[in-house]
Amino acid sequence: MKYSNAIQNLAGEGAFEVLAKCKKMEAEGREIIHLQIGEPDFDTPKNISEAAIKAIKNGETHYSPSGGTIAARKAAPEYMAKTRNIDVGPKHTIIMPGVKPIIYSTMMATINPGDEVVVPNPGYPTYESVTNSIGAKAIPMHLKEEKDFRFDTEELKQLVNKNTKMLVINSPQNPTGGVLTKEDLQVIYELAEEYDFWVLADEIYSRIVYDHPFQSIGSIPGALKRSILIDGMSKTYAMTGWRLGFVVVPEEMAKYLFTFAINNFSCTNTFAQAGIVEGLTGPQDDVDKMMVQFKLRREAIVKGLNEIDGFTCHKPQGAFYVFPNITKTGYKSQELADMILEETGVACLAGTCFGKFGEGYLRFSYANSVENIEKAIKLIKEMLAKTKD
Ligand SMILES: Cc1ncc(COP(=O)(O)O)c(C=O)c1O
Repeated sequence: MKYSNAIQNLAGEGAFEVLAKCKKMEAEGREIIHLQIGEPDFDTPKNISEAAIKAIKNGETHYSPSGGTIAARKAAPEYMAKTRNIDVGPKHTIIMPGVKPIIYSTMMATINPGDEVVVPNPGYPTYESVTNSIGAKAIPMHLKEEKDFRFDTEELKQLVNKNTKMLVINSPQNPTGGVLTKEDLQVIYELAEEYDFWVLADEIYSRIVYDHPFQSIGSIPGALKRSILIDGMSKTYAMTGWRLGFVVVPEEMAKYLFTFAINNFSCTNTFAQAGIVEGLTGPQDDVDKMMVQFKLRREAIVKGLNEIDGFTCHKPQGAFYVFPNITKTGYKSQELADMILEETGVACLAGTCFGKFGEGYLRFSYANSVENIEKAIKLIKEMLAKTKD
């Protein structure tokens, strides 16, 4: 039997492959330190879980409107308006089961086969995968360590042209922890105006920033008409398994996304959406506590990785990932990631899981305790010392 190009052109994801490998090793009795995982290790805040339990008990177990419950579609745009200083409401907003289906559906809503889509590289693999599935052409924007993994705006100017239909930005970024500045966003906006393209801004790590406040392209006057602003509950509120994302788009696109939702999943889990309302409008103490921990872990992992022979590690400005340069070890990224997992039981990802410009790097997630981070670093140090003998 034959399969479509659309499905065959979708790619897998390194993080899920490594997770499957780790589960197998754990079933065989190996102890694994998980530094590959892209999710907070904290529990979902209690008040949020209780709101969803209450919703179940109240019988909120039926279909909701396709775009989301009335309460969630009020809470989400209010949150976006407040955090980005923008004027948006329910008619610009739709709730979906996670940020991933939002990336998929908004790309589907705006890109045709043959169009060019500029994607960050190294970058979250879904952008390129969906671009390929649509039959469009992914143009990699090389994010460089010497530029703090931000966009080199001069280089970006060389990549965009009249065929560019979309530029994807992800700030704070997975996998590098890089963060775009207000000035970067201004240049991006001006290019988008000049060449008339969409900007898909995956802002899922918007609350996980360290030294500078988060900046959204949506805050630039005039930018909303060509921006797709995506955020969600997974990372900020440790709710990856709940599957909740939301997006702010021009009203016309929201209508298309409704039709997508109707044809694809009907609606997002109704009682889970009570968690959006409680999360976004309730107390934020748990988010603050989580950030205190992330800050401590960032210090521990950056310091520790820089002490490993052949590693140099940049201090990330956002998210909970570090992307150390490992070229001086003499190993290729995948080779070293495999060796670390097999010999020490520490799981991390090869930089190449995030595109060709990830060669020479590894990605570690610091969604794990300082104790485990320090243990992992000691094990890697010992392993590399042994291979030298
Ligand atoms: C940049 C980025 N976007 C989207 C997602 C997926 O988010 P969700 O769990 O809401 O589908 C992730 C998860 O790792 C991510 O890192």
